[in-house]
Amino acid sequence: MVRREFLKKIIKLAFTILILLWGAVFSVFVYPSRIRKKSLVFHYIFEEDSLPERGVRQVVVSFSKDGRKVRSRAFIVNTGDELFALSPVCSHLGCLVNWHRPKNRFLCPCHGGQYDMRGNVIKGPPPAPLGRLPLRIEGGRVFIGIRV
Ligand code: FES
Repeated sequence: MVRREFLKKIIKLAFTILILLWGAVFSVFVYPSRIRKKSLVFHYIFEEDSLPERGVRQVVVSFSKDGRKVRSRAFIVNTGDELFALSPVCSHLGCLVNWHRPKNRFLCPCHGGQYDMRGNVIKGPPPAPLGRLPLRIEGGRVFIGIRV
């Protein structure tokens, strides 16, 4: 009797492991992009002399991903003492923010989130600053890093 119970438990365990393995293999084929690690690719945006002397400039980067054309926005920010790139993705629920020059801040159209020029939250529900993107200047040309 004890042996029969032991065999039942072993069969149940083996069946459970088999189902879990099948689920893992299935998810790799159904959602490969979620499992695949995104690689950082630098895209040329403009010549170095086009950098904003002070302020914010929006850029749009076009590239191909999985055979389709993708357009990605970013902001190049020069505070006067620091030059960097910001992601336009709001840290609250992922809407795209816009730069509002008269108010000197980024505004999120979805729930009223506001960020200062450095991307720090100054109002609304966003829990974190805007993300920074890698920026590289080589040979007088400016490149921005985007994960694809
Ligand atoms: Fe930006 Fe909610 S998504 S404030």
